[in-house]
Amino acid sequence: MSAPAAAPAGPPTIGTLPTPSLLADHAIVVRNVQRMGTRIAGMGAALRPHVKTHKAIEVARLQQAAGMRGITVSTLAEARAFAAHGFDDITYAVPVEPGKFAAVTAMVAAGTRLAVLTDDLDVPGPLAAAAQRAGVTLDVYVKVDCGYHRCGVDPSTPAFGELVQRIGERTALRFAGLLTHAGHAYRARSADECRAVAREERDAMVAARATLAARGIPVPVASIGSTPTATHVDHLEGIDEVRTGNYVFHDGMQVRIGTCAAADCALTVLTAVVHRDRVRGRLVVDAGAIALSKDAGIADADGVTHYGHLVTLDGEPLGLRVTALSQEHGWVDGVPEPLLDRLAVGARVRVVANHSCLTAAQFAHYEVHEGERLVARWANHRGW
Ligand SMILES: Cc1ncc(COP(=O)(O)O)c(C=O)c1O
Repeated sequence: MSAPAAAPAGPPTIGTLPTPSLLADHAIVVRNVQRMGTRIAGMGAALRPHVKTHKAIEVARLQQAAGMRGITVSTLAEARAFAAHGFDDITYAVPVEPGKFAAVTAMVAAGTRLAVLTDDLDVPGPLAAAAQRAGVTLDVYVKVDCGYHRCGVDPSTPAFGELVQRIGERTALRFAGLLTHAGHAYRARSADECRAVAREERDAMVAARATLAARGIPVPVASIGSTPTATHVDHLEGIDEVRTGNYVFHDGMQVRIGTCAAADCALTVLTAVVHRDRVRGRLVVDAGAIALSKDAGIADADGVTHYGHLVTLDGEPLGLRVTALSQEHGWVDGVPEPLLDRLAVGARVRVVANHSCLTAAQFAHYEVHEGERLVARWANHRGW
């Protein structure tokens, strides 16, 4: 009987992983988490990070160590997973709808402080009835539109005061405060443009708070937050809480906006060259749309839209981009001859995520690395 093949010597490295794999650079995550924690605390607000970006208990623990107070989630699956690991102060930051009332109130009855939000005048009545049936009092935020125009009530309209009043009238509901998200900051292309959106986000909340104060209604919490606005805002007077998410990993989009440097991007996808075309100057890698997501992010300064920059295993930029995607194939066009020589079929490279929140959500877990050394595996609590 032949002896089994000897295991490779030394600690496991990212080059030994199957492809595609999701990689998180531990040192960069720690640095990003600490930097945002220090920044928000220094401006006198509480940090309630949005865990939808990472969906990983270990990252939330790092955020906890950096001073966070509670978490924000975008799905009830995230709420359940984090509650099961002791995170019991949660804001569910998608407007709540009747199909989720029972699940929300059950979690509250089980001891989690799960706050919800609404921008709809028809929600407080049935939500209060569900809370009453479950024997709980539910914290409810009013979602404010600060200029993104995705969700939220315009605080200059009569519906705003009316909604706050309808929540306040129900004994099974507690008015938790005002919450907004300046997603339009992602349309900014410079720090100055970001700062303008950040002021809009903050000032809309301060004005909305003043509107309610004039009616004798105190606002317990004014909650804002996006990574670009929190990075560039000049002050946070009048704001209690910030809910940044993306900053833990950053990504190609944040680099283009001017929110971070390329060296702050913690999330990459390890991929293998599966095809080399010397005539067309093309490589094909095994990270397609299902691995990278189809988020084209923000075009580079030369106007080229792409799905991520390629770097070597040790992080050296290759000057190549994923230019097209099919389900399991990533096309890399414009590859010069020396790189075609260097990157034979089987070669491993990494693709820097364009939009880390979406790329991370394609994978069941993270392979966590320090340099090329693998140091941990973090589960990704996906689903709805
Ligand atoms: C409601 C809400 N709050 C906070 C965030 C966090 O924003 P970012 O990932 O830019 O930090 C998001 C992101 O989509 C969001 O939708």
